[in-house]
Amino acid sequence: MTEAKTTVTGSNAAIAARVGKFETFPQTPRVKMANFVKELDLYPYFIPNTGKIGPRVHLNGKETIMLGSNNYMGLADHPEMIQAAVDAIHKYGTGCTGSRYLNGTLDLHLELEEKLAKFMGKDGSICYSTGMQANLGTISGITQKGDWVVSDEKNHASIIDGCKLSYAHTKVYKHDNMEDLERILKDLPEEGNRWIISDGVFSMEGNLAQIPRIVELADHYDARVIIDDAHGVGYLGNHGEGSVGHFKMMDRVDLVVGTFSKSFASIGGFVTGNEDLIDHLSNHARALIYSASIPPASAAAAIKALELFEREGDRRHQVLENAAIFRQLVEKSGFTTVPQVIPTPVVPIIIGDTMKMFKYNKELVKAGVYTNPVPPPAAPKAMLRTSLMATHTIEDLEEAAAIMTDVARRCRVLKRPKKKKTS
Ligand SMILES: Cc1ncc(COP(=O)(O)O)c(C=O)c1O
Repeated sequence: MTEAKTTVTGSNAAIAARVGKFETFPQTPRVKMANFVKELDLYPYFIPNTGKIGPRVHLNGKETIMLGSNNYMGLADHPEMIQAAVDAIHKYGTGCTGSRYLNGTLDLHLELEEKLAKFMGKDGSICYSTGMQANLGTISGITQKGDWVVSDEKNHASIIDGCKLSYAHTKVYKHDNMEDLERILKDLPEEGNRWIISDGVFSMEGNLAQIPRIVELADHYDARVIIDDAHGVGYLGNHGEGSVGHFKMMDRVDLVVGTFSKSFASIGGFVTGNEDLIDHLSNHARALIYSASIPPASAAAAIKALELFEREGDRRHQVLENAAIFRQLVEKSGFTTVPQVIPTPVVPIIIGDTMKMFKYNKELVKAGVYTNPVPPPAAPKAMLRTSLMATHTIEDLEEAAAIMTDVARRCRVLKRPKKKKTS
């Protein structure tokens, strides 16, 4: 079968003509889908926000209720966060121009790592420039040739890519299926270290991994555990330490990976764990050693976020309450949501048909509500991933639900209510 190709145009065409054989790119399913929806004028990605990053944003200049952000704690426009970032720029400048390993370490990074380890209840931590790099560096840095990594099939792309970068063998278990995980662990050869790795809160549907069972299986089959809690840290646990803390398993999980790009409203990634593991990664993780460190403003914002998680602890409860209210509102209108055993700020709304979802999404953005459209295979059925913030007001939630309902009826995503007969 011949593979579909995209013809190269623009300045690339001149290069292609010179090189000869590169005049086309292979069309991956993602590119194919993008081209298809672009032709229908339904492409939903890369819409610029022209204003503040908060519960309401300005998409292409138009005020829009933001239901598609990971700014769970609502800190991105917090005055103290902004001030901390501005102060750090004045003190240090705009960028570190080097990696942590060399000239790019600031006292701010050390302060952040110390406070973060304490917050997470671990001995130590090390920060990468993004969460993506935290997984790439940690997985490939901590495993060795001949090791085994056993990974949930719905783990984040950065975990999948971290496994690809590693010299260890990777086995994938069915999503959240502890029998399948055990089946794989049982069959592993004696040689090599074993690592189980899972998201703490799965990003698309917002469900928690069964961390207590994962830990139990790890104990039984002599494996170590890594949890990527990018979506759990901030609002879950005793004081925001995340899903591992929620299950009181911090002392039984070897490494917790996370990101500053969600609840922390900054950028950067981290891994926390025992001193020996962190020390090993500090001197071995290529994504850390060969990439510039977190800029001063972002490091200062992450430190301030840690302070605010504790000082403004009500935000943790508020974001979950907002998610519960919003879920109730949309379910009352007839939408089907994905249920969660332990509630998180993510409220996925099932649409079912992929094209219907893209059309609905387009109209929704026009009407002033932004959500994240998720086509399969990222979700079993096409869905809109909505995510709530601590700073959404009840008016935001009611207005968003009303717009979503109204547009859904127009787009035939929801049936129109039957008119009452007048006698
Ligand atoms: C589970 C998970 N891990 C890691 C990342 C990567 O984080 P970052 O945005 O900091 O690269 C994400 C981001 O979407 C994520 O959802």
